[in-house]
Amino acid sequence: MTDAPLVLGIETSCDETGVALVRGRTLLADAVASSVDEQARFGGVVPEVASRAHLESFDATLDRALDEAGVSLADVDAVAVTSGPGLVGALLVGVSAAEALSVALDRPLYGVNHLAAHVAVDRLVHGDIPEPAIALLVSGGHTSLLRVNDVTLDVSPLGATLDDAAGEAFDKVARLLGLPFPGGPHIDRVARGGDPASIDFPRGLTTARDDDEHRLDFSFSGLKTAVSRWIRSAQDDGRHVPVADVAAAFQEAVADVLVTKALRACADSGIGTLVVGGGVAANSRLRTMLEDRAAHLDVRIPPPSLCTDNGAMVAALGAALVERGRAPSSPGIGADSSMPVGEIIATPARGGLHRGAAGIVEG
Ligand code: KG4
Ligand code: ZN
Repeated sequence: MTDAPLVLGIETSCDETGVALVRGRTLLADAVASSVDEQARFGGVVPEVASRAHLESFDATLDRALDEAGVSLADVDAVAVTSGPGLVGALLVGVSAAEALSVALDRPLYGVNHLAAHVAVDRLVHGDIPEPAIALLVSGGHTSLLRVNDVTLDVSPLGATLDDAAGEAFDKVARLLGLPFPGGPHIDRVARGGDPASIDFPRGLTTARDDDEHRLDFSFSGLKTAVSRWIRSAQDDGRHVPVADVAAAFQEAVADVLVTKALRACADSGIGTLVVGGGVAANSRLRTMLEDRAAHLDVRIPPPSLCTDNGAMVAALGAALVERGRAPSSPGIGADSSMPVGEIIATPARGGLHRGAAGIVEG
């Protein structure tokens, strides 16, 4: 694929500044700068800190990606950027940079959906995704089951979390256990020394009663409360809190629900391909549980470094859009902090406004 289009991908929706270059389905460079150490001091992502960190690290991250790929900006055929969902101020840094590059280079611009990009990144690892596919998307902000008829055109939600996202539950439980932010990787590490069967934590929305209305939905806030109560009662009794056991039992409950519902979505639809993406897809227990319980399916999970936020996912989706001849975004796409999962390419907001949970920002 040496003559396939070269796509520059830019990701700034949360606390990772990602810039990557993809040619066809080949990842040439994936540079990521993270403000997570700065965020860890606050125990969560502070939007203003994230926006400033993107501004400060963007140029160097772009240079690093171009160097690694051995290409120059003039070689780029198309620019793709996360337009939403995410933190509006953080998104705007990437979108502004991408719009400027697209105008300066006179190349098409694709403002893309972060969630579809988490799915599309797998094409860099396992080749084109057989469609239709079911996708389990598990990140810090989202937990959804999706039907992917065409990752560049037609993605529809089958179920989603009613409260906390899976990653958010990991981060909150880590905090209860005194582990640093972001909690997912720390719980994953600590849980290796624990017994997952030591505590039977609840599996949200999995009873027969939930089957009618919430067959493919998730709920993690009850699990988080159960963990919190368990820890408090141990402390009240003067017992030592077995951090590794609590982490392992909590992780087991999350992985069990995610795998159960993903298998259910595949069985219900008769679809045999399951793509798993988003930061929580890096979880080692979720990965082994899928190997054990979903061996009858074509399960596609990218390596952990491509599960957490990065520019490669955006470039991968951009390259698929170019390949399938989709029309680029019009100028003035802006940022859309609550971009719906079914909207894969950004359309300009009416009246040139940026839609966002943090308020409407005039464009
Ligand atoms: O996809 P992502 O990088 O950012 C969002 O789009 O939200 O996901 C970040 C989330 C965080 O909540 C983090 O704790 C979680 O992914 N995470 C993990 C692991 N690595 C990252 N959760 C469980 N196990 C992991 N190994
Ligand atoms: Zn993400």
